[in-house]
Amino acid sequence: MFSKFVSTTARRSAAAARTTTRNMTTTTARRTPVAIAPMAAAFAGLGASALAYYNSVASSPAFADGWFGGSSAGAGNFGRFSGKVAAITGGADGLGKGIAARLIKEGCQVMLLDFDAKKGEAAAAELGDNAAFYKVDVSDYDSVAAAMAATAAKFNGNIDIMVNCAGIVGPTKLKINEVDVNDFDRVYAVNLRGSFNVTKAVLPYMNKNDYGRILLIASIAGKEGNAGMCAYSTSKAGVIGLVKAAGKEYAETNITINGLCPAVIRTAMVEGMPKEQVKYMTDKIPMKRCGTVEEVAATAAFIVSEEASFNTATCFDLTGGRATY
Ligand SMILES: NC(=O)c1ccc[n+]([C@@H]2O[C@H](COP(=O)([O-])OP(=O)(O)OC[C@H]3O[C@@H](n4cnc5c(N)ncnc54)[C@H](O)[C@@H]3O)[C@@H](O)[C@H]2O)c1
Repeated sequence: MFSKFVSTTARRSAAAARTTTRNMTTTTARRTPVAIAPMAAAFAGLGASALAYYNSVASSPAFADGWFGGSSAGAGNFGRFSGKVAAITGGADGLGKGIAARLIKEGCQVMLLDFDAKKGEAAAAELGDNAAFYKVDVSDYDSVAAAMAATAAKFNGNIDIMVNCAGIVGPTKLKINEVDVNDFDRVYAVNLRGSFNVTKAVLPYMNKNDYGRILLIASIAGKEGNAGMCAYSTSKAGVIGLVKAAGKEYAETNITINGLCPAVIRTAMVEGMPKEQVKYMTDKIPMKRCGTVEEVAATAAFIVSEEASFNTATCFDLTGGRATY
């Protein structure tokens, strides 16, 4: 169930504003696709200090004067996602919650979709009035289709952005001959079939507006393979293949489909892994550190923005130098 409801009046005025903004931003975006690209580039890679920098810029006189093209959205909000609706799976925790916070801060309305209702409800309450929660199991197509329908119903029929962060690690520190077949299948069902399900289920909402940004979180493990994690690595390699194929299928529309391949980012998923497995992965990173949720959110926000209009069917790197391709 939704964690909160907006009043009919509020919903109607938000819808009217969104329609106006949608028309304006679509036209504007076609004419000037990189209006604030330097700002996005400035945030990418700023790491833990990104939000502090963002807040200082947003409250500066130059921002208030509309110097960065966002004064109408108000202080602390660039308005890059004003009028946009996002569905974020795995949104109850970790990367999904971090990306949701970033998009909301920039004007988005977000439905957090997650298996964990307790964490999901709490996350939606924490993120404020522009967040809501709906329970989903991404491995089950019917559940995903119902979640997308609920997202559209809550936010005036539209879904502009979908980020798939739901995922599980599965067996670690095990060689392939030691991995249980059922464990392998479960990792496949959540990580790969889940990516297929959410992409298939959200596309009708994007097709009707000929606009969309789909981002599937893959992993460096899908490019290189992590020993001891064959189920996970295989599932993420599949996600990369899905992005490449589906992205090309939609390349002549205004819907982009991309992936993101992070190395180790400190979240609950990583905290739950054996220390030796985390050390094995972190030692491979030339920057010799884990990434931060803020760094993931900054990169993801660019990928799902209107500015990222010439990127599709590819997987962005976020590995502190580990992947060089
Ligand atoms: N953290 C990292 O180092 C890292 C690195 C590379 C890729 N990734 C990928 O990023 C994504 C997010 O990872 P995270 O670190 O935030 O993990 P996390 O464990 O913090 O969050 C994952 C979320 O997915 C939800 N989830 C699990 N199974 C689900 C299902 N069947 N249906 C719906 N929701 C489900 C969980 O309840 C949880 O809230 C995952 O796909 C992960 O593989 C993470």
